[in-house]
Amino acid sequence: MGVVDEIKERLDIVEVISSYVPLQRAGRYYRALCPFHTEKTPSFYVFPDSQRWHCFGACGEGGDVFTFVMKKEGWDFATALQELARRAGVSLRPRTPEETQQEEERARLEAVIAEAVRYYHHLLLHAPEAALAREYIARRGLSTETVERFQLGYSLPSWESLRTYLTSRGFTVEELVRAGLLVEQEDGTAYDRFRDRLMIPIRDPQGRPVGFGARTLQPDGVPKYINSPQTVLFDKSRLLFGLDLARDAIRQEGAVVIVEGYMDVMQAHQAGFRNVVAQMGTALTEPQVRLLKRYASRFILALDPDAAGVQATLRGLETARQALDRELEPVFNPRGLVGFERRLGAEIRVLSLPAGCDPDDLIRSDPDRWRALVQEAIPVVEFYLRLLLTRANLEDAKERARVVETVLPLLRDVGNPVERETYVQKLARAVRVDVRTILERLHELERQQALRVTVVTGPTQRTAPRSPVEFRRPSIADLEGYALALFLHQPQLLGAVNQALAEMEIPPLSDQDFADPTSRAIFDLWEEQLAEGNPDPSHLKAYLPEPLLARLETLPAPPQDLTDEQWLREGVQTALRLRERRLRSLKTELRALTEEASGPDADRYGQALAENARAILRVQQALRYRPWEYSPESGSLQTPDAHFGL
Ligand code: UTP
Ligand code: MN
Repeated sequence: MGVVDEIKERLDIVEVISSYVPLQRAGRYYRALCPFHTEKTPSFYVFPDSQRWHCFGACGEGGDVFTFVMKKEGWDFATALQELARRAGVSLRPRTPEETQQEEERARLEAVIAEAVRYYHHLLLHAPEAALAREYIARRGLSTETVERFQLGYSLPSWESLRTYLTSRGFTVEELVRAGLLVEQEDGTAYDRFRDRLMIPIRDPQGRPVGFGARTLQPDGVPKYINSPQTVLFDKSRLLFGLDLARDAIRQEGAVVIVEGYMDVMQAHQAGFRNVVAQMGTALTEPQVRLLKRYASRFILALDPDAAGVQATLRGLETARQALDRELEPVFNPRGLVGFERRLGAEIRVLSLPAGCDPDDLIRSDPDRWRALVQEAIPVVEFYLRLLLTRANLEDAKERARVVETVLPLLRDVGNPVERETYVQKLARAVRVDVRTILERLHELERQQALRVTVVTGPTQRTAPRSPVEFRRPSIADLEGYALALFLHQPQLLGAVNQALAEMEIPPLSDQDFADPTSRAIFDLWEEQLAEGNPDPSHLKAYLPEPLLARLETLPAPPQDLTDEQWLREGVQTALRLRERRLRSLKTELRALTEEASGPDADRYGQALAENARAILRVQQALRYRPWEYSPESGSLQTPDAHFGL
């Protein structure tokens, strides 16, 4: 048994979670108000049998005891492992000397930065040279409280004052260089990086200062900001400015507002909008999105309204999508985003700022307007719809048709039927076409896409090996839901699929292939029903608890009018996709464990990793098989079917 399982076995999830939220018993489950979003009726469930939790409300998330503490405490997996191991009385191996040394170095650099923060802050408050900086702060409307909360500072117009001060406090020049505070020259001497600037400490999510953003005080000073360089502590692509102060508010509101700059964040927090963070100028990165996903499932992007700003928004959305759904095609594609929203139970909204106005200006001049804009932030689908409509010449019939064709695939992926309907109507009105015409096109598209398996034959490259078989259908967004829809719709399918898998030496589909506890539970119960000879979904419905029933209602539509071969093909491909995903997440955990382990444990994990790699390969090869090759002996799948774009 691995450490993770051992920990899970020793810790009861009910006990762990009830140390954070009071749980109420409800039949076989426990229930509570969701600790991750604000709600009035409890929709947070803990399942003692599977040792998993799930929120059936706004956040729609679920997982095991690890994901719970990671989300609740904002820990990464390694930290959660340490902490839960301690709690469970499971011992992890002691640190190696190198690790101890690395930790000491980190601690030392943290101390350097913390000391620099104090130094700059003190100067801002007291140095005569900082008079202009204090004036600047007042002009930007930042209060004394904000200066304190963010520990703003000032760096003197000198090449060595910080160096002199910190070396006198026992730090070495080398440490100061490694902390990014000094710039080293070729001759080995080093000078202060930040001079005559407003100093803005940047902190990690736990609130430890790790670097600085430094703004010029000159009206046209260039560059406007100098940031800390990449250091052991400071990695701009993994940090979000203000997150340490915003965490609780983000969790409480279940939403995070992402702005571009330092000033925007400070102004927002000062005005009481505490769930605001900044991506510090660059496009949103994957690690940033992952970080935020721990706290909120609604992302509101408030980026510049100008052309470049829209581009940045799109880049940001693209990253958000890539980070959370690697299975979709790599090209930017709004459909992917909508799919990602559905799959992750996340929601991406775009806030449109008035032209020429950043959040900083707006919040200062009209906080109510800002509040309203945040509330009115529109779903990403709508954002695209509007963007397309404003850019198209709607007098031209061809253009109108183009808009319809561009938007349709997007609409098809919208999970919520009511929402979808609304967009269809909006689209119909905008392009002055009958709603029924659009609905017909949409259904036609659904039928086509449900069956299409596209063979992507890109140039042979080493860098990005991808499975040549790519599904393009809404189901990819909610793969588990799609699988359930397939297997519930065709009661014999599961057996046939498992047999096909067996022929490829792949273990049968199991409830473990479903990550979402609801889907898992439904699959589990369905298998049970099948085993008992009740291949009728209505039997199943009769005794599902309410949240499971609700899930059943939202399953994507199964494809229509398939031949037996096509059903089998769908079933096998879907099962393989699920398996691939499960194996990949197992791989991540095994990696983390291998890093922690030593001795026989390390060997075991190493072997498990190798086995995992083989299993992934087998699944990928199976996915690459052309469907008629699944079962050559049976003869049932031997005819390639040209109608389905193969
Ligand atoms: P902005 O130019 O919008 O800055 O850049 P701002 O925060 O609104 O600053 P003010 O209002 O002019 O004082 C947005 C963000 O891009 C990064 C910073 O993180 C900034 O907050 N940036 C900008 C840089 O890193 N370097 C630059 O030269 C400019
Ligand atoms: Mn600004």
